[in-house]
Parts: sequence; C-alpha cells; structure tokens
Amino acid sequence: MLNNTKTAYGWVAILLHWIMAFAIFGMFGLGLYMVELTYYDAWYKGSLDLHKSIGILLLGLLLIRTLWRWINISPDSADEHASNFEVTSAHLVHLGLYLLMFTLMISGYLISTADGRGIMVFEAFTVPAIPFSVDNQEDIAGDIHEILAWVLIVLAGVHAIAAIKHHFINKNKTLVRMLKVGQAESK
Ligand code: HEM
Ligand code: HEM
Repeated sequence: MLNNTKTAYGWVAILLHWIMAFAIFGMFGLGLYMVELTYYDAWYKGSLDLHKSIGILLLGLLLIRTLWRWINISPDSADEHASNFEVTSAHLVHLGLYLLMFTLMISGYLISTADGRGIMVFEAFTVPAIPFSVDNQEDIAGDIHEILAWVLIVLAGVHAIAAIKHHFINKNKTLVRMLKVGQAESK
C-alpha cells in the first residue's frame, strides 16, 4: 500500500516521515558541531559541504513530500476520543513543522548562496544561486537559520512526546500507524 487511506498511512508517507525526521535531528547536531570548528580543523570544509549537500537533498524530499500529501488523502485522527482541540492542535503542529522545514532549508540556501556562488551537492550537481542578494544576507539568513533550527527541534520534540503519550497513555494506534502500514482495522 503506497497511498494513504482514510484510516492509515501508506509506505511513501511513512518512509518520507522517518528518513526526514532522522536526517533533521542529525543535521541539527552536525550544524551545532560544525559552527564550532575553525579553519585549521580537518573537517572544517567537509562538514559544511556535507551539511549543505544533505540539506539540498532534504529540500528536494520536502517538495516531493508536500506534493504527495497534497495529491493524497490524510488519515483521520487515530484517537476516537480526541477532542476538537486536540485534533486542531495536531493539525496546526503538522502545518507548523512543514512551514519550519521549508523556511529553515530556504534560509540555509540563502546563507550558502549569499556570495553569488551555487551549492555543489555531493560533487554531483550544482544548485545555482538566485541572481540577486541583499546586504548582509549571510548574517541575516544565518541568524534566522539558527533560530528556526531551534524552534523546529523543540516543536518536533513536543510532537514526538505527544506521539509517545498517545501510545503509552491513551493506548491508541497513532504511533503504530506511522511505523507500519496496514494498521487500519482496529483503532
Ligand atoms: C534539514 C534542515 C537543517 C537543519 C536542522 C540545520 C541546522 C543547522 C544548525 C543547528 C546550524 C548551526 C547554527 C548556529 O549555531 O549558528 C546550521 C548552520 C548552517 N547551515 Fe543548516 N540546517 C539545515 C539545513 C540547511 C540547508 C538546506 C543549508 C544550505 C543548503 C544549510 C546551510 C547552513 C550553513 C551555511 C550554516 C553555517 C552558518 C554559519 O556559519 O553561521 N543548512 N544549520
Ligand atoms: C524533525 C522531526 C519530525 C518532523 C519534522 C515530523 C513531522 C511530521 C509531520 C509533518 C507529520 C504529519 C504527517 C505528514 O505529513 O507526514 C507527522 C506525523 C507524525 N509524526 Fe512526526 N515528525 C518528526 C519526528 C517524529 C518523531 C520523533 C515521532 C515519534 C516519536 C513522530 C511521530 C509522528 C506520528 C505518530 C505522526 C502521525 C500523527 C497522526 O496520525 O496524527 N514524529 N510528523
């Protein structure tokens, strides 16, 4: 089952969710680590190149994920006792996570292309820079990138705690549905 149904997530949504979740937590750690390195550290350039390359691939995955979500149906809440408030706040958190992922990746792109040079992705292809920039673009985008990264990680943490609470306290299929396909029958 590739597609989502009214009651379950399909493989595409599940794979994209987990690949991106692990990669984003990894990118957060890599980002914090690499900005502490100096020019004389062996991995100074390599770590930044890796961060940018994975970041661009994640932006590509995010576009595919958004398109997929748009052309697919989204499952209803797995918790039949959920209040309107809970359902609405879960939707708002998911929307917030999408917006944060987009703005974070775009701000990263704007830091890296502030000098007018494109981004080389794993020495395989180059994503060009947009043909104009603003004064201090690197610093402004850098500050925004740092703040958005922290906000995204905190919101993703809250989101993960909510999922774990649904599993262990409410004992419903919310988390299991995002881990394996075919969890539609019993809620
Ligand atoms: C997947 C999402 C991403 C996460 C979670 C992330 C996270 C981070 C973090 C935590 C930092 C350190 C900020 C600081 O303490 O100053 C950072 C720095 C940086 N990121 Fe990202 N990043 C992501 C995507 C990207 C993308 C797509 C690009 C570019 C293509 C990028 C380019 C950069 C650059 C150039 C820096 C260094 C900024 C500086 O020197 O101040 N990042 N990132
Ligand atoms: C950076 C990390 C994460 C991001 C950006 C993220 C983002 C999202 C988004 C946007 C959705 C809505 C479905 C979709 O469009 O794919 C979702 C659903 C979900 N996520 Fe995450 N997630 C992250 C990490 C986690 C973690 C660590 C867990 C569990 C421990 C988790 C559990 C779930 C569950 C159970 C759902 C389904 C919720 C429902 O059916 O209402 N997520 N996530």
